[in-house]
Amino acid sequence: MGSLPKNREFDMTDRDFDQIRQLASEFTGISLSEHKKEMVYSRLARRLRALDISEFSDYISYLRAHEREELGNFVNSITTNLTSFFRENHHFEYLSSTVIPELASQHKADKKIRGWSAGCSTGEEPYSVAMTLSEAPEFDMRSWDVRMLATDLDTNVLRHAKNGVYDLDRIKGIDESRRRKWFEHQKQDEKSVYHVSDKLKEKITFNQLNLMKPWPINGKFDFIFCRNVVIYFDKPTQKILFDRYADALNEGGYLFIGHSETLHGVTTRFKSLGRTIYRKVH
Ligand SMILES: C[S@@+](CC[C@H](N)C(=O)[O-])C[C@H]1O[C@@H](n2cnc3c(N)ncnc32)[C@H](O)[C@@H]1O
Repeated sequence: MGSLPKNREFDMTDRDFDQIRQLASEFTGISLSEHKKEMVYSRLARRLRALDISEFSDYISYLRAHEREELGNFVNSITTNLTSFFRENHHFEYLSSTVIPELASQHKADKKIRGWSAGCSTGEEPYSVAMTLSEAPEFDMRSWDVRMLATDLDTNVLRHAKNGVYDLDRIKGIDESRRRKWFEHQKQDEKSVYHVSDKLKEKITFNQLNLMKPWPINGKFDFIFCRNVVIYFDKPTQKILFDRYADALNEGGYLFIGHSETLHGVTTRFKSLGRTIYRKVH
């Protein structure tokens, strides 16, 4: 096994890393490969410092003994939360051009649309979906009941998502007219920050949810975004998750996954529409 450089602040043996991997997989589904060792070291080193613990083996014992207090910090340290507004923009274009017109004609009677951003990180994904839905000429928001559920396991990113406050850097990619429509510019300690408008926020319910555990969800979804999440899971875990998504979707519901993910060879419950967009077949 590849070892970490000697003379580091904390000792992390191969055995420690194996145990961390096992805990990560058990609690989150995240499968940590050998080349993640350095990353795991630096992220968890912060916890060892905060707890004044000098060895990883002691941290693992602490985590086992104080699961209730420490598990959240452990999980928050090992998740990867990279995201951006309108990331993989073709998904939002497809939503506008195809999914929304189709749903609008299907749901004429109940006027109810439900979407889920599973693994929503700091909120850029569900807010991008909510902007797309709110801008759709098909949905008059006074008569349509359009709502998104946005969930993540990591409580830190979820707090950010709920707050809906972003630095200029984060919203740079959004075109000017959208920025003006959906964000309010404010100065905070001499810094420019952008608050997501309440109109968007009220369309989204943010909840903590571990995809590996039972889902306290009522009703079915018209579409699910689960992008750049399963990339960290092994194939058997992905299959279980995708089959559960099929169960959670309405007939013909859509599933959007990340650019380096695939359902090919994982589940037959969806057909591919190309460009990492799938449709439930059974
Ligand atoms: C790389 S981010 C993807 C964010 C967004 N979907 C996107 O594509 O831009 C992956 C997110 O999945 C979340 N995640 C990882 N394992 C999870 C689990 N078992 N349950 C729920 N969320 C999980 C992480 O906390 C992280 O915020």
